[in-house]
Amino acid sequence: MKSTYQVLSPGDIRSAREHDEFASDLLFGLSQPVKEISSKYLYDDAGSQLFCRIMELPEYYPTRCETEILLRHGPAIVESVGDARLNLVEMGAGDGTKTRILINQLRGRHVDFRYVPIDISESAVSELCTELVQECPEVAVKGLVSDYFVGVDWLSHQNAARNLILFLGSNIGNFDPTRQVHFLTDLWNALNHGDYLLIGMDLKKAPEIINQAYNDRQGVTAAFNKNLLHRINRDLGGDFDPDQFVYYSAWDPFAGAVKSCLLSKAPQSVYIDGLCRSFDFALWEPIHTESSYKFSVADVHKKARHIGFEVVENFFDARHYFVDSLWRVVKE
Ligand code: AVI
Repeated sequence: MKSTYQVLSPGDIRSAREHDEFASDLLFGLSQPVKEISSKYLYDDAGSQLFCRIMELPEYYPTRCETEILLRHGPAIVESVGDARLNLVEMGAGDGTKTRILINQLRGRHVDFRYVPIDISESAVSELCTELVQECPEVAVKGLVSDYFVGVDWLSHQNAARNLILFLGSNIGNFDPTRQVHFLTDLWNALNHGDYLLIGMDLKKAPEIINQAYNDRQGVTAAFNKNLLHRINRDLGGDFDPDQFVYYSAWDPFAGAVKSCLLSKAPQSVYIDGLCRSFDFALWEPIHTESSYKFSVADVHKKARHIGFEVVENFFDARHYFVDSLWRVVKE
């Protein structure tokens, strides 16, 4: 018999591991009393493109508010961090539009820095790196395709330059409060005394403004959520009919978060080949897809202090809808 062999590349191993992780997270999530799919799976290539469209929607105010903050306060932010050699590390970089504002401020001040975008979407990281290398050939760019936690681990083994971590877009709000503290503590641990974190947080405001942001008239946010079902069908051999689910999202003032879900429009059973089992959905049963926590200014200070950061300054947009808070790591 003819013998054959196969050589697995690191890329093959990584994609097998990602596939297994998706399968086990999904099995766990869909087996819970309240079914859920982790919001990190919203961002495959199609989901990342839909999220770029969300950021341009008239109803989705956070991106415009944060752009306004960076345009207006970029010089003050860069001034606060100082002129020392810098690693500008961005967690969840996406298309990097907002970061370009800070990059240009740093270039203008001739700060010696390298830019490290970290994102779960390979296409987002490689497109961003390609564009930046063309736009700013003198800036060293080192992209990392990973989730935040692997990114933090990588950071802790890096060089001695001062770190300025960007965690923009209120991405922290997609973690529940326990994971927020867990993540920020890990980050604090990976950083050195005197490093900085610029963290974007969406502020609590009138419910109708928040609700409109997650229920846009064009239905892009609904498509973004339903893409999860397409992804399960494609990657794990699911037989979800996305038309049998409807997107629902509402501000919950008790939780201090927007809770988003997909509701089953009929009693139905869905088979997922990659999990070798089917899941039953009752009429109007929800699958939780995302929580988007919002903050008060007092929450921002409490959180920073609790973990071991000092709040250097809060930078707001004109309507005080959003804050970019500059935190400094304090270690004994
Ligand atoms: C990325 N994240 C902060 C967004 C949010 O507002 O929670 C994701 C999003 N979901 C629906 N619209 C935007």
